[in-house]
Formats: sequence, C-alpha cells, structure tokens
Amino acid sequence: MAQGTSREIGPVVLLGPPGAGKGTQSKRIMEKYLVPQVSTGDLLRYNVAQGTELGMAAKAVMARGELVSDDLVCEMVRQRLSQPDCGRGYILDGFPRTAAQAGWLDALLDDKLFDNSRPTRAWPIVIRLDVDYNQLLLRITGRRSCPTCGRIYNVHFQLPSLDEVCDVDGQKLITRNDDRLEVIQPRLKAYQEQTAPVADYYQRTGRLIAVNGDQPVDEVTKQIFKILEDRQS
Ligand code: AP5
Repeated sequence: MAQGTSREIGPVVLLGPPGAGKGTQSKRIMEKYLVPQVSTGDLLRYNVAQGTELGMAAKAVMARGELVSDDLVCEMVRQRLSQPDCGRGYILDGFPRTAAQAGWLDALLDDKLFDNSRPTRAWPIVIRLDVDYNQLLLRITGRRSCPTCGRIYNVHFQLPSLDEVCDVDGQKLITRNDDRLEVIQPRLKAYQEQTAPVADYYQRTGRLIAVNGDQPVDEVTKQIFKILEDRQS
C-alpha cells in the first residue's frame, strides 16, 4: 500500500452485511487518508475483552448475533468521535446500523463543520458494499484475524504467508466468536431487518453510493478511493 496522505475527507460511512468487507476496506482508507477507523464491532469486542460494564452488557447479545442497544452504542460512538484524532474525519465501520442510530448521527453532524471555511454540513459519504449471499457465507466462515494488530485474513481468499500466523507481527490468528455457523444466520437476519432500512434511508435522501463488493479486494478499494477523490474535487 502506498504511503498515506493526510487529507480531510470528512466522515465516511461503510454499510453492508456481515462479511461484506467493511473492515478490510476501512483499513485501506485509513492507511491512505490517515483518518481513524471507528469500528463499533471492534470497540465492543475490546470492551468485552476488557470486561468493562459496556462489554458485560454487550457480550451475550453479540454472541447471539443480535444488535447491542442503540443507547449503549451511540454513547460509545459519541465518546470515540470526541477524540482529537477524529477532527479531520473518520471512517464509521458498522455504524449506523439502525434507523435510530442514523437519526442520532445526523443530529450529531447537523451543526458540525469539519472545515470552518466551508459553509456546508459535513454530511457523511455513505458507501454500501453489496455482496452475494453465498460469497458472504464463504467470507465469514473463512475469516481469521490477528488479535494484536487486527489485520484480517481469509482461508479461502487472503491467506497469510505462513499458515494461521499474522504476516505483520507473527501472532497466531484467531476466529471471531460470532463467526460460528449458528450465529451467522441471526447476524444476517439482523442486517436485513434493522440495517437494510438504514441504507434505504440514505438512498431516499440521495446520499447512498453502492459499490459491487463481490469484486477482488483491490478492485473494491480502487472504486472506493475514486468515490472519495471525486467527492473532494
Ligand atoms: P461487526 O464487527 O461490525 O461485524 P459485521 O457487521 O457483522 O461485519 P464483519 O466484521 O463480520 O464483516 P466486514 O464487513 O467487516 O468484513 P471483513 O472486512 O472482515 O459487528 C459484530 C457485532 O457487534 C454485531 O453482530 C453486533 O452484535 C455488534 N455491533 C456492532 N456494531 C453495532 C451497532 N452499530 N449497533 C448495534 N450492535 C452493533 O471481511 C470478511 C472476510 O472476507 C475477511 O476474511 C476478508 O479477508 C474477506 N474479504 C473482504 N473483502 C473481500 C473481497 N473483496 N474478496 C474476497 N474476500 C474478501
């Protein structure tokens, strides 16, 4: 990956079902534009691992493949977005995921200007990754990730150089607790019932850009970068 450039890109929202490639593409946007990835799934998993109050409330819900309550997630996001590194923009990965979360985000951004010289609202660039159902199943069941650096691999599509070992730091790769077959269906159901309407909402307000996420990773990245560049020019 080429050296990143420090550019203001405002908020980017990546929507898409479990396994669509949101985390994979977020990391690439982060590397190129040097803005942080705010992944609600990663933040929740961190809280679960640390045994915080939030983590204890979220643990069983996540293990069932259901959504954590809007109140808890919005407060967690509010705290994260108030950190100084989010000042030039950020990538929201896995948020908003319900109509209530989308409304909450709009209210938050309503009077927030990322660049005070521009008299416009900092509406997010909303990109939805569309992927075929069977491909999603393959991606989720084949996913492995590094517990230390978070790098994502796949036993079918993106193998590490050494079997089950992270290329970056040599850690043994792990399988996520919610990537078990019996949890995948409830996660996909939660997406259809609660998150697909969020994409409809952005579409109705002319803010949704759909990308064919069924293509190879590099091709999807190329299209996302083009969308972000076009938006800046
Ligand atoms: P979260 O962590 O957000 O999981 P998710 O939305 O289910 O998405 P995934 O992380 O499974 O997939 P992804 O799209 O990031 O794909 P990835 O890049 O890894 O949420 C987990 C749980 O937390 C939720 O179920 C819920 O309980 C809770 N939660 C989180 N946010 C919440 C919220 N806002 N409100 C309430 N609850 C919330 O790629 C997948 C695999 O495919 C990888 O192995 C990758 O290598 C491979 N791959 C990626 N792109 C390609 C490609 N183009 N070609 C081939 N392989 C590819």
